Amino acid sequence: MARYTYVNGRFVPHRQAAVHIEDRGYQFADSVYEVVALMNGNLADEQGHLDRLERSLSELRIPMPMSRKALQLKIRELVRRNRVKNAAVYMQVTRGVAKRDFKFPAAGTSSTLVMTVYPVIYDIEGRKKSEKKAVTVPDIRWKRRDIKSTAMTAQVLAKQVAAEQGAYEAWMVDDEGFVTEGSSSNAWIVDNNGDLITRPTAHNSILKGVTRNAIQALCKKEKMKIVERPFTVDEALKAKEAFCSSATAIVYPIVEINGKKIGNGKAGPVTCKILDLYLAYAGDKKARQAAWDPK
Ligand code: PDD
Repeated sequence: MARYTYVNGRFVPHRQAAVHIEDRGYQFADSVYEVVALMNGNLADEQGHLDRLERSLSELRIPMPMSRKALQLKIRELVRRNRVKNAAVYMQVTRGVAKRDFKFPAAGTSSTLVMTVYPVIYDIEGRKKSEKKAVTVPDIRWKRRDIKSTAMTAQVLAKQVAAEQGAYEAWMVDDEGFVTEGSSSNAWIVDNNGDLITRPTAHNSILKGVTRNAIQALCKKEKMKIVERPFTVDEALKAKEAFCSSATAIVYPIVEINGKKIGNGKAGPVTCKILDLYLAYAGDKKARQAAWDPK
């Protein structure tokens, strides 16, 4: 549990952290969020997450609560106060507090910024041995899945279906039978040629995962073939390997979907290689410096 949480300019003991009941995040889910992995003291893919935060906010016409540099300083201060080296840093920006009314509040209403940390163990070797299951559910979400909105009732329901069936993730399926993504992660399969397949981000049908982007870049460097195309549940069931990616999962092998074993029911070599590549990348000093000092 976090010791301190950041709420609108103040670091407060976590138990006392609160926002007003008329905060638009609370009443309308009129807000966006980001989750950044803090791995061994390093904020993995910080720049990508902050880029997406700015983009989500701009799509919803919510002002950034402060400059990016100031936000980066606050994140570091929060991490320092919580004395964590491995955690998920959660940040949420809402359109602010105003009397309940659907349209935007008066110009000048300050956006709310809340940040907290959750200790996480990024046990990469453990992940290779973990046997995560997935189930499929219909994708019932809105059409702007590119925005990292906190309006996630559909994902909450999907994850609950998964949990009730002993699964880690719910892979959501569009009306044509193609997998969109997981309830809180992007979905990947490896086909019989060893090619990696993941859905394109076209038509805002999925979230453009920052971890997904990093994996794509890492695989490209390694000359591993990635095919961006939608895949069906049937293809996933026949895949050699399957996995999901997100800031908190990094990569989790999916060894069973809807009760059917994928490949030999263990994390495959491609999945394990990607975990190793990501770990090396997340610890890279140059990447850390670039995130702190974006051009
Ligand atoms: N979820 N797709 C969805 C629907 C997600 O909610 C997430 C992240 C991702 C992966 O994005 P990224 O690689 O940038 O984390 C894909 C976060 C971790 C969460 O809700 O906790």
